[in-house]
Amino acid sequence: MKRILLASVFAVAGFGTASAADLTVGFSQIGSESGWRAAETSVSKIEAEKRGIAFKIADAQQKQENQIKAIRGFIAQGVDAIFIAPVVATGWDTVLAEAKEADIPVILLDRTIETADDSLYLTAVTSDTVHEGKVAGEWLAKTVADKDCKVLELQGTVGSSPAINRKKGFEEGIASASNIKIVRSQTGDFTRSKGKEVMEGFLKAENGGKDICALYAHNDDMAVGAIQAIKEAGLKPGKDILVVSVDAVPDIFKAMADGEANATVELTPNMAGPAFDALKEFKDSGKAPPKWIQTESKLFTQADDPMKVYEEKKGLGY
Ligand code: AHR
Repeated sequence: MKRILLASVFAVAGFGTASAADLTVGFSQIGSESGWRAAETSVSKIEAEKRGIAFKIADAQQKQENQIKAIRGFIAQGVDAIFIAPVVATGWDTVLAEAKEADIPVILLDRTIETADDSLYLTAVTSDTVHEGKVAGEWLAKTVADKDCKVLELQGTVGSSPAINRKKGFEEGIASASNIKIVRSQTGDFTRSKGKEVMEGFLKAENGGKDICALYAHNDDMAVGAIQAIKEAGLKPGKDILVVSVDAVPDIFKAMADGEANATVELTPNMAGPAFDALKEFKDSGKAPPKWIQTESKLFTQADDPMKVYEEKKGLGY
């Protein structure tokens, strides 16, 4: 009787709720296509450890079918929540309905999905990826002013929310500058090697790149690959061809310090921290977080002491 009384006193005082340390969270991660992705994985582990959360990561190696399998595995194990970085935007309704049926909250990390039923996930922790593209486009418009500017675009993974939105945002950012034209646009799948390969093809098809004024890459890794291709074509990246991209990984700061890249829009790799906090509050109080927890997007240019930022970032898991 005494024990029951004590237990109810603790419950009223809020001690009876699950502590973060009691939680097990499964994370269906896309893979390791970029430096940013590697950092997101390591930062997520650190954030879980800080809170004493048991954290299981399944690497989908870029395949949606592997993500769906992993999610079903997490449901079968009865985890307390599932985090998903969705490789593409569509095709999630069935498996998310299974998680909902099992009463397991789902949180989307860094990418969004297209669904008519937003009750299928608790919240999405992402940046505004349209805004990122817009910031990059506006930076270019301001930098080239009235000069005619032919742009090459390296897109991210086909069908992924950042590829769709960063393209849209960039087009919005240059919409009022009729002197800027995207002359070629193709996917480089967010990887350094594909970025280089596609850039080589672009340069060959565009008179060796002599008439090109800028490269817009949907992530820094593709930009770094493309910078190599520009150099091999005998041109100076950052001068003959301006380079603007997204992520703010250490290597792009090194390239900026060397004058070979011009601007990047930062995407924080810490998506899991805010997700764990929202989950904990939801489990403790039943209070649902906002449907979108937005992370910041900051523009960095060569004027921002890139070597200093490189030194600060290089040990952070990228
Ligand atoms: O979803 C975020 C994007 O995925 C990053 O910008 C890119 O580097 C990663 O692969």
